[in-house]
Amino acid sequence: MEKKPVSKKKNSTSTSNKINFYSRSAGETLRIGINLAKTLKGGDILCLRGELGAGKTTFTKGLAKGLAIKRNIVSPTFVIMREYTIKTGKFCHMDMYRINDTDFLASGLYQCINENNICAIEWPEKIKHLLQKKYIGIKISVLKNNSRKIEIKKNDFSN
Ligand SMILES: Nc1ncnc2c1ncn2[C@@H]1O[C@H](COP(=O)(O)OP(=O)(O)O)[C@@H](O)[C@H]1O
Ligand SMILES: [Mg+2]
Repeated sequence: MEKKPVSKKKNSTSTSNKINFYSRSAGETLRIGINLAKTLKGGDILCLRGELGAGKTTFTKGLAKGLAIKRNIVSPTFVIMREYTIKTGKFCHMDMYRINDTDFLASGLYQCINENNICAIEWPEKIKHLLQKKYIGIKISVLKNNSRKIEIKKNDFSN
């Protein structure tokens, strides 16, 4: 039987625990987040790395949409953490950009991390010594124009 030609250009490559996407717009990044959200379960922690403006919050908006959160996701840069109700518990969106006193932070972080909640952490580099569990690492790199490379790695522990 003749194979159908693949019309759409593939925008991802993968190995067993790693998948790379190429996004050409904020909308595409959102969509990648929505799709990843469908594979998440309570207890998952996502660490989002990438420079300012890379698209970490945009990606998180996709995660929230995929988790059926109706509320608008606003960057938690100034409040550090925002919580949203999801089916299994809470979706905790954290931004460590402004964090210096990591002891103060530890309490909030550990309250959030449990088997019911899903945590998405921007700037996890700031608290790497507090992360004791394997997580889903997401690294967003800015390419030419509006393109981004989005690397998703399960069971990451490499920050
Ligand atoms: N391919 C893309 N993916 C994500 N964001 C993009 C893309 N192209 C342009 N943008 C824009 O870049 C900005 C990313 O901002 P944001 O998600 O707040 O970044 P961060 O949280 O990493 O600082 C937004 O204004 C978004 O519209
Ligand atoms: Mg952000």
